[in-house]
Amino acid sequence: MNDFVFENSTKVYFGRGVAKKHLARLLADYGKTVMLAFGGGSVRRSGVYDEIRAILDTAGKTVVEFSGIKPNPTYARVLEGAALARERNVDLILAVGGGSVMDCGKAISMAARYDGDVWDDFWARRGTVDFEPLPLGVIVTLCGTGSECNGGAVITNEAVRIKTDRDYPRCNARFALLDPAYTLSVPRLQMLASGFDTLSHVMEIYFSAPDEENVSDDISEALMRGIVRDLRAAARDPQDYEARSNLMWESSMAENRIIKLGKKLDFQAHMIEHQLSAYTDCGHGLGLAVLHPVYYRRICEKGAQKFSRFARRVWDVPAEGRTETELARAGVEALADFIRELGLPTSFRELGLPDELPLAEIADSVELTEGGYGHLTRDDVLAILEACR
Ligand code: NZQ
Ligand code: ZN
Repeated sequence: MNDFVFENSTKVYFGRGVAKKHLARLLADYGKTVMLAFGGGSVRRSGVYDEIRAILDTAGKTVVEFSGIKPNPTYARVLEGAALARERNVDLILAVGGGSVMDCGKAISMAARYDGDVWDDFWARRGTVDFEPLPLGVIVTLCGTGSECNGGAVITNEAVRIKTDRDYPRCNARFALLDPAYTLSVPRLQMLASGFDTLSHVMEIYFSAPDEENVSDDISEALMRGIVRDLRAAARDPQDYEARSNLMWESSMAENRIIKLGKKLDFQAHMIEHQLSAYTDCGHGLGLAVLHPVYYRRICEKGAQKFSRFARRVWDVPAEGRTETELARAGVEALADFIRELGLPTSFRELGLPDELPLAEIADSVELTEGGYGHLTRDDVLAILEACR
């Protein structure tokens, strides 16, 4: 194993009824005013809003609502939320939703406590801030991003058409309430897309140095097999609680920093997807489903050792009679077959994007990472985007 420092400060409560069991006690540690942040209305339809609001009211909290946070949250909304948090002297932000609401909540928690321009000094540049954000708690209603267990916030700045992420450990939620039953109302395609996002996170970590046997890759292989099993079960029966609860914890395990320990990390597919999303507002998991096989077909021979291991250990592809390169390619095709099996999109057209997309401009804006096996150039990115049409 390579050297590392590990810390994860989020306290997780997992299981049926965790909000009713624990939220009131957790709220007692914070001041009177709570910003209740949520999305476009799913929490009202599912009954989660009523349940949480009743707990807040009974606890005697003054509730400041910040609602209508859309998928792929924007910096403009972050600034709006931060202004409201300042004006109302908010003591705790409670973000109730999926990755977009949690990320927006984290970004508001930073912007509300920062005097400068938090986009310029944090998202546009790495690692230049040092301050304590407003406390944040999260209640997850859609799992997949893993945002509940890290300090990452992915924000779109529409003015400059950049969607980017940063992980600021002090932005980790103080507590995360994970009730799998809260996710049962998620529409089937969204559930599968978000589950694929989890698989993508594990792959982006796994397909990077070191290639020697190590604990992080061992856990990643177990997670990938589990995610595939649980997505199959949830696709067959979306109300399967066992599958849905496994997917919820797999989502957190993929992004709570544990499997990143000692790893270089790739995340090139994510960088491409983020810019695709900045230009098209497509769903994150859906964009990743289209991009991953195309990207991996391009790089798998350079990382043949790891890709062939992926084929054998995750997809049970028989090694006999195949060279390492053939096995590596077979692993990528097993992934592509799985994406088709789930009914996720395999092209931009299936994703519902228009034929005319500014692909060259998107390619120009993609951040190139150093951690994967491909080390793409801007022209490689453009070729990948073209092949996704
Ligand atoms: O807005 P509402 O009405 O709540 O509907 C949402 C939204 O339309 C709906 N939904 C959520 N919970 C539901 C539900 N519908 C029915 N029942 C429920 N219980 O689902 C839709 C999508 O929600 P969103 O939060 O956008 O999805 P997701 O969790 O996939 O988050 C995507 C965002 O997270 C970022 C992505 O880039 C994207 O912006 N990511 C964040 C990461 C992180 N912080 O660590 C890592 C990821 O790689 C990712 O980039
Ligand atoms: Zn993701």
